[in-house]
Amino acid sequence: MSSLEEKNISSGADKDQNVEAGSARGPREGLEGRSVFISWEDLWVKVPDKKSKSRSILRGLTGYAKPGQVLAIMGPSGSGKSTLLDALAGRLDSKARQTGQILVNGRKQPLAYGTSAYVTQEDVLTWTLTVREAVYCSAELQLPDSIPLSEKRERAEATIKEMGLHDAMDTRIGGWGTKGLSNGQKRRVSICMEILTRPRLLLLDEPTSGLDSAASYYVMKRIVDLAKHNNMVVIASVHQPNSDVFGLFEDLCLLSLGSMVYFGPSSEAREFFSGNGFPCPSHQNPLDHYLRTINTDFDEDIDSRFGGQFCSTEEVITVLIRSYKSSVSYTEVRRQISEIKRRGGDPLEKGNQAGFYTQCGIIMRRSFVNMCRDPGYYWLRLVIYIALGLGLGTVFYDIGSDYSSIQARGSMLMFVASFLTILAIGGFPSFVEDMKVFERERLNGHYGSAAFVLGNTLSSMPFLLVISLIPSAITYFLVGLQQNIGHFMYFALTLFACMMLVESLMMIVASLMPNFLMALITGAGIQGLMILSGGFFRLPNDLPRILWRYPLYYIAFHKYAYQGLYKNEFEGLMLLARNIPSTRQGYSSEEEILRDVWQVEMGYSKWTNLGILFGMVVIYRVIFIGVLQLKEKFKPVIQEIMSISHHRAERSPINPYSRLLQGSDSSGVQDFITKADRRVLASEI
Ligand SMILES: Nc1ncnc2c1ncn2[C@@H]1O[C@H](COP(=O)(O)OP(=O)(O)O)[C@@H](O)[C@H]1O
Ligand SMILES: [Mg+2]
Repeated sequence: MSSLEEKNISSGADKDQNVEAGSARGPREGLEGRSVFISWEDLWVKVPDKKSKSRSILRGLTGYAKPGQVLAIMGPSGSGKSTLLDALAGRLDSKARQTGQILVNGRKQPLAYGTSAYVTQEDVLTWTLTVREAVYCSAELQLPDSIPLSEKRERAEATIKEMGLHDAMDTRIGGWGTKGLSNGQKRRVSICMEILTRPRLLLLDEPTSGLDSAASYYVMKRIVDLAKHNNMVVIASVHQPNSDVFGLFEDLCLLSLGSMVYFGPSSEAREFFSGNGFPCPSHQNPLDHYLRTINTDFDEDIDSRFGGQFCSTEEVITVLIRSYKSSVSYTEVRRQISEIKRRGGDPLEKGNQAGFYTQCGIIMRRSFVNMCRDPGYYWLRLVIYIALGLGLGTVFYDIGSDYSSIQARGSMLMFVASFLTILAIGGFPSFVEDMKVFERERLNGHYGSAAFVLGNTLSSMPFLLVISLIPSAITYFLVGLQQNIGHFMYFALTLFACMMLVESLMMIVASLMPNFLMALITGAGIQGLMILSGGFFRLPNDLPRILWRYPLYYIAFHKYAYQGLYKNEFEGLMLLARNIPSTRQGYSSEEEILRDVWQVEMGYSKWTNLGILFGMVVIYRVIFIGVLQLKEKFKPVIQEIMSISHHRAERSPINPYSRLLQGSDSSGVQDFITKADRRVLASEI
């Protein structure tokens, strides 16, 4: 592997190339100071395991990546490639515990939220958009306001063409049962979005999966060129590349069972394998040979010949790991890492982006288009609401004005404010998809949580207005509530506010819960509790004081909605007051009905109730932003604390392979994953 010194000399040439590259260069950085070195030392990742308490997924990995080059991570499926990328990107699962050091330019710093770009294995895209719309929006969001819109779009278009997607430019991405792009095309759209800004550190998890061999070659070639021209650090896990693609990678990191089997120039891997007694047959692609040699998944069937006798794959891996640890390559890696640390460099900083209001506008536009095109977001709900509105209208048809209508009016209003609004969770699956896109874009630093929440809120408002106005009109006039446009508007606005509240509540729950189903059940449960404490099923004064009255009754938005709607309906309802003989029923005015029958708080007007509801909408959305931001701030801190405590509890993790290499004891046995591993250890010890 070329040394750092050599790299520094060659960086001048890279800069020249950058100048030539012109518009292909990213706007985030100038030419100077683009060099980023990332290194990781003794990196362990463990996850809890029922049988042996914890299971090691990565075992003491050490390596580094240099600017201007693509480091390829390869290994059999399940060898820890994605976990290594997750660890480098700071996106490990919350259950996973990481120890060891990851340094950028010799210093410790978190890599999420804008300092690096990571294309994960799963393509998370807004499925209703076309390729052009999706990439244009991404460019407009990420590139700074100083770049004119036309230039942003030009760059987006050029990138789409570079990824070979020009024919699919106006095809919808598709998903949810709608056929759109193929998986390979989706992969390329995801890559497009992350390379628009030429980030200094780009992580790609299986960028070529789903692509045919020609497409794989061209995509990887573009990425390699991009890395060279822009002095980017690119680390890509690559699955089964053909020899052309493999030839593009200068450096190779070969993993098996979470351990490093080889790290160094890809050209020297062949020598490494043959030097250890596993020469590549002349007719075979070298990479296929390496992967077959270190694949433990089918160890019962495939054995290798070593030193004239058959041995299992695990034994082969042990030999290779042992040999790698004592090789010149490993010493060179350690030397390079010390050099990176000594040399230091600037911390990675977030690049310039579009301004806050531009981002809000773009997110709003994109979200609006998505809501329009996704039938599950609002349209299906509109149909259901119309059906329910008709149902309510016919059940309570021409409600009349006798004594029993007091109860009927109350029940009908309660149904509207609670059960009609609880159906807002019907749009939840679509919202969860939106959240996934947000999380990906947020982690890659495209925009902040406030821009997302504001954009999403504004785009949903017209739809919510439509789905509250139409069913309201059907119900209101069929039932025959107070025939007055002002009263009707109050009724519709209350329904609108309640729907926004339910949506806001579901958003908060979705951001706190680990998965969709749990969020759905929790959200519905919380609303059930709020309805119970809202003052209808049990009148406010009869509610048990602890919990139900204080604080639930005051927290539940249902209380304000019910009482506002009651005031709206019963105040000025002359018919009712006239028809009820005050002597028999004891009600002399509508105010008494409100106060005595429904126990409504009469100290303020119905407009205050509506104001409180809209105030709550604002509070809920602010809470949602707060939750998103707190999660961002505290997740890395919590992970750090957990890793330290885990580290202490376990006393420093021991690489069993390294113990084997030193030929000492067997206390690392519990770190092993498979029974196959135990066999190796047993045979070694
Ligand atoms: N959060 C996790 N909890 C439990 N096991 C995990 C977790 N993440 C990864 N693993 C396990 O670690 C191994 C390596 O996973 P991964 O890094 O995805 O492999 P690769 O990308 O090389 O196919 C797999 O056996 C996988 O099941
Ligand atoms: Mg993977």
